[in-house]
Amino acid sequence: MAKKVNIVILAAGKGTRMRSSLPKVLHTLSHKTLLGHVIDTSRSVNADNICVVYGHGGDQVLKSFAGQSDIAWAEQEQQLGTGHALKVALPSIEKDGVTLVLYGDVPLTKKETLEKLIANCNEDSVALLTAKVEDPTGYGRIVRDSANKVSAIVEHKDANTEQLTIDEINTGILALPASKIEKWVNSFNNDNAQGEYYLTDVIELAVNEGCKVNTTCVDDFYETLGVNSRQQLAELERYYQQQQAEKLMAAGVTLRDPARLDIRGELTVGQDSIVDVNVIFEGQCEIGQNVNIGANCIFKNVKIGNNTTILPNSIIEDSTIGDSANIGPYARLRPGTVLANATKVGNFVEIKNANIADGSKVNHLSYVGDAEVGKDVNIGAGTITCNYDGANKHLTVIKDNSFIGSNSALVAPVNIAEGSTVGAGSTITADTEKDSLTVARAKQRAIKGWKRPVKNK
Ligand code: UD1
Ligand code: CA
Repeated sequence: MAKKVNIVILAAGKGTRMRSSLPKVLHTLSHKTLLGHVIDTSRSVNADNICVVYGHGGDQVLKSFAGQSDIAWAEQEQQLGTGHALKVALPSIEKDGVTLVLYGDVPLTKKETLEKLIANCNEDSVALLTAKVEDPTGYGRIVRDSANKVSAIVEHKDANTEQLTIDEINTGILALPASKIEKWVNSFNNDNAQGEYYLTDVIELAVNEGCKVNTTCVDDFYETLGVNSRQQLAELERYYQQQQAEKLMAAGVTLRDPARLDIRGELTVGQDSIVDVNVIFEGQCEIGQNVNIGANCIFKNVKIGNNTTILPNSIIEDSTIGDSANIGPYARLRPGTVLANATKVGNFVEIKNANIADGSKVNHLSYVGDAEVGKDVNIGAGTITCNYDGANKHLTVIKDNSFIGSNSALVAPVNIAEGSTVGAGSTITADTEKDSLTVARAKQRAIKGWKRPVKNK
């Protein structure tokens, strides 16, 4: 039987250096809060229970995770130290298996790293995640005996001159045998430089009881970096984005500049697609093969087929686009836009809640909202579907092979029959007839001998 995995996430700290009214763990990295990242990683290792120790800004923290019933919450009213924080969590976690301690402000620890710690912790052994760093200032130091076995962790402020030279540091992430924690946390004292109950004291207690300390040294320090300031938040954001960009390139996608791409959600891109600079993907996006994405495009929850081109400065949200389509530049596709294959949407066109079938074109300066557009339709420049009467929205249906002349207003509800031609500048208020020309505008007349007014002297 697999051992039980309990996870305690320490997140009660104030985060003074963020200078924010938002609790630190609610600041976002990419599309998720810092704490959200830690919770999701905890879920990815199939934790049997997850307890978050919260304090500062408690109401806001609880509210932002409302409805996530797999999370237990323990309030630490006063931040008396990491050891005290773990104690507060004890009533919410099981007493068997392994208890993994994570920090709510360390968002990028990998699943594989947590799995290693879980595997390295047993009834009589503790697993500790350490790191070798050039500048260990501020961190707890890993103290080893003459046999190179870990004997204790000494906090920076409590370390002697010799200990201060140790470059192996405590990342803070560790796994403890759940059955022993209660006894250990109850023997912590705050007799130290900071007057805090240190969780790090657990190492010495464990060693004194004959427990083994298994250390894992991270190769990638970013995995254990915490966020204490906006500066660090930005550094981790860049690192995270770089990782996403590298994954895409490894999958066969060309990025004109991997440093000028932001992915805030889940993204898949097919082989041989090319993404130009300053593109943002949000939510769930799925892009096909051989797709060409121009500079400065923003996508949110978008699905695109193969061989489609999106020209620069297009903004596309909750939309689906087929194969071999050509969109933009400056296209705005709002929620509910479905463009089939070989469709074309040109510059300064806005489309909302509309289905546009194969081969149809909306080339310039149009608004198509609440519409069903058939195949091989041509919608001329400046055409507007007048979908809103001030109270309700209405549908415009444009059947296959229609041609809508420029600057037409289609006043919904209205049906444009198959093969219709609408004369430029028409205001269409009634259904058109199949294969006929409809013109709804004042007739042109010529006034002969017309004299232009002249300026008064
Ligand atoms: C801690 C470790 C140190 C390690 C460092 C890594 C201790 C005593 N020291 O130091 O060895 O090198 O992390 O970053 O554990 N927290 C609470 N309640 C508290 C205190 C802290 O929930 O009462 C939470 C904080 O929100 C934070 C985490 O615990 O997420 C770590 O606290 P922090 O004060 O940053 O620990 P350090 O002093 O940096
Ligand atoms: Ca810290």
